[in-house]
Amino acid sequence: MKRRLIINIGLLAGIGHDGRICLKGKEMGALHTLLNAYLVVEDGHFTDYGKMEDCPLSDDNVEVIDAKGGAVLPSWCDSHTHVVYAGSREQEFVDKIRGLSYAEIARRGGGILNSADRLHELGEDELYLQAMKRVSEIIRKGTGCVEIKSGYGLNTEDELKMLRVIRRIKATTPLKVVSTFLGAHAVPRFYKDRQEEYVDMIVNDMIPVVGTEKLADFIDVFCDTGFFTPEETARILEAGAAYGMQPKIHADELASSGGVEVGVEHNALSVDHLESMVEAEIQLLKDSHTIPTALPGTSFFLNMPFAPGRRMIDEGLPLAVASDYNPGSTPSGDMKFIVSLSCIKMRLLPAEAINAATLNGACAMGLSREYGTITRGKVANFFITEPIPSIDYIPYAYTTPIIQRTFLQGEEYV
Ligand code: NIG
Ligand code: FE
Repeated sequence: MKRRLIINIGLLAGIGHDGRICLKGKEMGALHTLLNAYLVVEDGHFTDYGKMEDCPLSDDNVEVIDAKGGAVLPSWCDSHTHVVYAGSREQEFVDKIRGLSYAEIARRGGGILNSADRLHELGEDELYLQAMKRVSEIIRKGTGCVEIKSGYGLNTEDELKMLRVIRRIKATTPLKVVSTFLGAHAVPRFYKDRQEEYVDMIVNDMIPVVGTEKLADFIDVFCDTGFFTPEETARILEAGAAYGMQPKIHADELASSGGVEVGVEHNALSVDHLESMVEAEIQLLKDSHTIPTALPGTSFFLNMPFAPGRRMIDEGLPLAVASDYNPGSTPSGDMKFIVSLSCIKMRLLPAEAINAATLNGACAMGLSREYGTITRGKVANFFITEPIPSIDYIPYAYTTPIIQRTFLQGEEYV
């Protein structure tokens, strides 16, 4: 049995919440910590932790890792990304600075359709290699669980290509990966002015293949003004439900447009974005099993309003935060920066933001029984930082690369 003992932990943070799988409202303000601690990992799982003065003696069967006074936290759980894509879109970044909006760029045939063209040209192996570069970057930045969406294929063949690449990432990295089918990300050019026919194709052709081949855990729709309507969303979600794919949807990014309502009605695991959400939707979420997820990196990069994260927590809701790593609206998967933005722009306290990016992120992927906190029996995904004065320093030092070593399934990622 492989055993690792991490000693001299200055601050062990994110210790389990008595089996809670999701934190709501005031609970989010509590981040359980221990000063001067040790941690034991066996066969890829946390098995023990405690004060350094009670540290078990090591023997020949134990590998000792010295944290040198640094902090140990559970890995980030990034519940919303699009890391499988081809190329980049810095030209649109410049166009936006010059004054074009995200919606205008999309209307002119750029945006998601631009990425779909590039992905169509690229072979599966090359697509995998490009995505893996981003995957190893996010692992180094402390991410341990990630959701990855399709949605740059927009035809059956290319959507399947993306989903196979996600499956390959699942199989070849120590990262915990869940996959989401997002055929309804945009209407491809071929179906311009024939949106209903594209929805027919998603329902009749794509979903049955994706479902039968079990290529996706979840189903998503970009339910927003200029993209898909709540009625179209409902049709797609119902078709996905027949194959056991629970919804996680893009809602209220560009306008308050019915996404939260249709998500809650279809028992979505999460509704994501919410930059334009209104009070009635906050109230609606209170009586639901759906976890709201804010993507503050997108608001930052697109220079748009932020989701009302503070308000949601004050109203007693749970909140997750995720990166939305994608080529158009936020080309970054740096979860530490997302935690900083959550504090600076959504007025979350550091403990709330860290809980939103760990346990609640895991919850928004259906993974919080196994990931998201330092709890005996959970998978040992964690990172070690340089010595830091307090937990508040993590979002405060908003560009300092304090994360020094990352461990997935108990193994160091080098
Ligand atoms: O979550 N809003 C829709 N989809 C992505 C952006 C996709 C893109 O621009 O390539 C998002 O922001
Ligand atoms: Fe997204």
